[in-house]
Amino acid sequence: MNLFQYGNFPNVKGSRVSLRQILDTDLDDLVEISFYDAIQAKTIQQAAEIQAKINQDYRDGNSIHWGIVDNATHKIVGTCGYYRGLDKGEGELGCVLLSKYYGQGYMREGMLLAIDFGLNQMKLERIWAATSQQNAPAIKLLERLNFVKVKETDDDEIEYELR
Ligand SMILES: CC(C)(COP(=O)(O)OP(=O)(O)OC[C@H]1O[C@@H](n2cnc3c(N)ncnc32)[C@H](O)[C@@H]1OP(=O)(O)O)[C@@H](O)C(=O)NCCC(=O)NCCS
Repeated sequence: MNLFQYGNFPNVKGSRVSLRQILDTDLDDLVEISFYDAIQAKTIQQAAEIQAKINQDYRDGNSIHWGIVDNATHKIVGTCGYYRGLDKGEGELGCVLLSKYYGQGYMREGMLLAIDFGLNQMKLERIWAATSQQNAPAIKLLERLNFVKVKETDDDEIEYELR
């Protein structure tokens, strides 16, 4: 599979949600959850600039960023993807939901699709995720997905690894 070729973005079909490439027409809905280097977009223009950087990272083979789509409504409910480590055969899995879709199980399903794709298509040897000690919803999500804590750092970051 030629993962990082232009025009060959890896969309992933699931039963309740699917993962697909983010389009310019999605950006209006995604400002709230558009981040790059931990800086959040405030406007659609900034979300578009962030998306352009994300697209370049994808073309460079450094990341894959999916929109998570509700198959029933075709609306994007959040995003997830692999953002670091691909050059080493690893993937840092990250995710964020639009707040109105919290608590409905969307992310668990989106992450399961991303994990399956990471293991079986990308052949990642390790999948990990980083969050903070205070981020209880993220920790709960990761533990439900069979991630275990492997590292704590002084600056409050904790690292989880898929087992
Ligand atoms: C982390 C984050 C994605 C978790 O969101 P979430 O809504 O808790 O996660 P899910 O979409 O998997 O939903 C799980 C919840 O939906 C409930 N749920 C409702 N209907 C469900 C269904 N049909 N199927 C599964 N779960 C369902 C579950 O019981 C669970 O609730 P609980 O945590 O109260 O037990 C969200 O808090 C977020 O976007 N945070 C900001 C970004 C962030 O911190 N990212 C993490 C980086 S590692």
